[in-house]
Amino acid sequence: MKGLKEQILESVRQDLVEIEAALTENLKPYLPLVSHVAKYILFSGGKRIRPLLMVLSARLCGYNGDYDKTMSVVFEYLHAATLLHDDLVDGADVRRGNPAAHSIWGNPATVLVGDFLLARSIAIAAETDSVPIIDILAHTTAQMSEGEIHQLLHRGDLALDETAYIEVISRKTACLIQAACQIGALLAEAPEEEVQSLADYGYHVGIAFQMADDLLDYTADATVLGKAIGADLREGKLTLPVIYALNCASIEDRRRLETIIQAIGISRSDFQTVLGLINKYGGIQYTRDRAQEHIEQAKKCLHIFSVSKQRTLLEQLADYVMVRKM
Ligand code: IPE
Ligand code: IPE
Ligand code: MG
Ligand code: MG
Repeated sequence: MKGLKEQILESVRQDLVEIEAALTENLKPYLPLVSHVAKYILFSGGKRIRPLLMVLSARLCGYNGDYDKTMSVVFEYLHAATLLHDDLVDGADVRRGNPAAHSIWGNPATVLVGDFLLARSIAIAAETDSVPIIDILAHTTAQMSEGEIHQLLHRGDLALDETAYIEVISRKTACLIQAACQIGALLAEAPEEEVQSLADYGYHVGIAFQMADDLLDYTADATVLGKAIGADLREGKLTLPVIYALNCASIEDRRRLETIIQAIGISRSDFQTVLGLINKYGGIQYTRDRAQEHIEQAKKCLHIFSVSKQRTLLEQLADYVMVRKM
């Protein structure tokens, strides 16, 4: 029996080939340095989830034009730009198993290439002549910046609760995935109800996607994940597994957690202690359950569409978010 990932890949193989080609064709850098840094982040093994979601959303709404692959690169360029900036802000040294761009080219070039990718995205979107599409993208990039800033403001903040956590991940991650699905529908000139359903689908997939990422930060195999494990804790980033454990912990265990979270350096054994306490209070399972609820809600949003190959694929992609290992 083929795994979910293989099943999805088989259905989208040709789309992925065309997306890869469009990613190269639309970059149009003038300087070799821009080309090097942009290609380094763009072609280092990203899963292409966001462009795929846009293309499949458009197709679900009956799109039969020829701008979908081009438009889809907007979501990978924006994603790549945020990763360049995110790794710099988070002080993360490894991305997709390679040194993070800022550790090779330095902060100035990395920030500026991120800006270049953002600018290319706007130019590609402008070709649609659709004010609603450009408006959503402008809104999305503003939300993403504020999501990362909100997170920055709460570094090491033990009072961060689940509501604030959801606010942060809605902006920094779900918003872009939502925009990919919504813009796919808009490109297809779908009726308002379909546009809204795909936007909602994308939102729920996006929330679950970040919850899964936050789980992987505690549970994954670093070589498979391609990023360091325990990075969130070291970065003072409180995510749902630990927020939940802090809430449920005895006074004594809460103190142990607080002491480690607030320490300057976090050793391997500190990480194991935190993971042990997260498990003791069910923080991993709780996060998994919340994420699974969002997956179910995402799939429900697709019910207004009749059953089709495209709808099944979007359902499978939602499920994939929870089983992914990287
Ligand atoms: C990583 O996103 C950043 C988050 C929003 C959690 P992906 O897991 O989609 O990254 P790549 O592009 O596949 O490496
Ligand atoms: C997601 O947050 C980052 C963006 C949306 C840019 P993380 O900081 O958790 O992402 P990773 O773990 O570095 O990929
Ligand atoms: Mg990060
Ligand atoms: Mg992460």
